[in-house]
Amino acid sequence: MVVAVAARMWSRALLLVLVTALHAVGESAHQDNNSNFDTQLKVGRSIDLFTRYGYLSLSMKVVPRNDSVPTWIFREPTVDIFNNVDHLVRSRQAPKNVVFEGDFHMEFCDNLNQLLQAYFRDFSFEKLKRPWRAFTGSWLPEAIARNLGINSSFTHGDYCYVLVRLSRFRDRSELGRLPENVSLVEMVQKEMDGIKVGDYASVLMFIKKFGSHYIKSYVTGNSLYQVFVYKRSVYQNIKSKLQKEGVSDVDTRELLLSYFSPWYAEHMGKIKVSSGNKTVENWAQSKLRVRYYIFSYPCLLKIHGDPHLLGVLNNLLGNEALLQIKMNAISPAFKDPVKKQWFNEVLENMLDLWEVNL
Ligand SMILES: *[C@@H]1O[C@H](CO)[C@@H](O)[C@H](O)[C@H]1NC(C)=O
Ligand SMILES: *[C@@H]1O[C@H](CO)[C@@H](O)[C@H](O)[C@H]1NC(C)=O
Ligand SMILES: *[C@@H]1O[C@H](CO)[C@@H](O)[C@H](O)[C@H]1NC(C)=O
Ligand SMILES: *[C@@H]1O[C@H](CO)[C@@H](O)[C@H](O)[C@H]1NC(C)=O
Ligand SMILES: *[C@@H]1O[C@H](CO)[C@@H](O)[C@H](O)[C@H]1NC(C)=O
Repeated sequence: MVVAVAARMWSRALLLVLVTALHAVGESAHQDNNSNFDTQLKVGRSIDLFTRYGYLSLSMKVVPRNDSVPTWIFREPTVDIFNNVDHLVRSRQAPKNVVFEGDFHMEFCDNLNQLLQAYFRDFSFEKLKRPWRAFTGSWLPEAIARNLGINSSFTHGDYCYVLVRLSRFRDRSELGRLPENVSLVEMVQKEMDGIKVGDYASVLMFIKKFGSHYIKSYVTGNSLYQVFVYKRSVYQNIKSKLQKEGVSDVDTRELLLSYFSPWYAEHMGKIKVSSGNKTVENWAQSKLRVRYYIFSYPCLLKIHGDPHLLGVLNNLLGNEALLQIKMNAISPAFKDPVKKQWFNEVLENMLDLWEVNL
């Protein structure tokens, strides 16, 4: 088993420690072929970010949801805007000779805002400065607590957090670079021709009909995550210790009984499953439990360095949630440079307004 360790600063205050890159050769799991896939999720199709800004977790399966039909991954309406781009699409399912394709990482968050940012690290909208707000803008503290698996009393106050997440990738798709002369669907071209530079409303109408961003790439699969809550002084200590030593050099048992235990953490969040799958959640609650004398608590880091548990999880984590998405502004659809610039100006202006207002 190859275990790679990388540490990288996202910003001054934010540290991401990649615990393991999980690539092991061996027996493969079953391969399912997109059977429960919504056709809406396809690279090159566009969405209007403004219709559900702040509420995207209603239409994209990014956190567990409690609804009657649990099998959807993506139900945001999308529109086809480009012609003949299928040859630019690179899709692939997890390779057969890999036991577990995904990643396991830990991110240090100095405050609640950084925790939300960390959770949505792999979700981006071009030109949007705080893309996580497109998902979390509408979340009240109770929703934040429920979605992240922590007690609501820890969503305010001077707390720091560590997010630990294990992701199992299933399907990926990416749209290659669009050619300069990319052809547009006729209706889209017609609406675009009607846009007048200086006419704000004509751009708004275009976005309403054909969207603001198109799907550049995505990854689906499923993940387990857990949030640990600390007092600031304890957190600073752990952060600088692990930054210095690297997680992989510390014995797992030691981590489980120290930094990631109730003796250091102010609060240990529940182990959550991003798709909300109850079978997986129950498995995690019972199998990822640390026992020490009379104490017992669930800890996701138990998987760290345990190929057996990884092997089991490889089968348990199916294709049920959206793990990453990259959305690009649809500006490349504009061939007239002046019109393109006007479109960009209006789009940036609207994005700024939305970010301030929600
Ligand atoms: C799924 O797999 C089956 C059998 O391998 C194949 O017949 C079917 O066409 C596939 N469906 C899709 C949508 O690829
Ligand atoms: C589902 O939601 C309802 C209403 O919000 C709540 O009462 C119930 O406990 C939830 N069930 C689960 C399994 O979370
Ligand atoms: C969880 O929150 C409730 C109220 O929000 C509080 O009464 C309870 O003590 C908290 N539990 C823990 C373990 O802190
Ligand atoms: C775009 O340009 C390429 C190369 O110049 C050409 O082969 C292709 O047919 C063009 N496509 C369209 C839609 O005009
Ligand atoms: C939940 O996960 C289990 C184990 O991977 C799987 O058998 C089951 O079909 C999943 N349930 C749903 C609703 O996706």
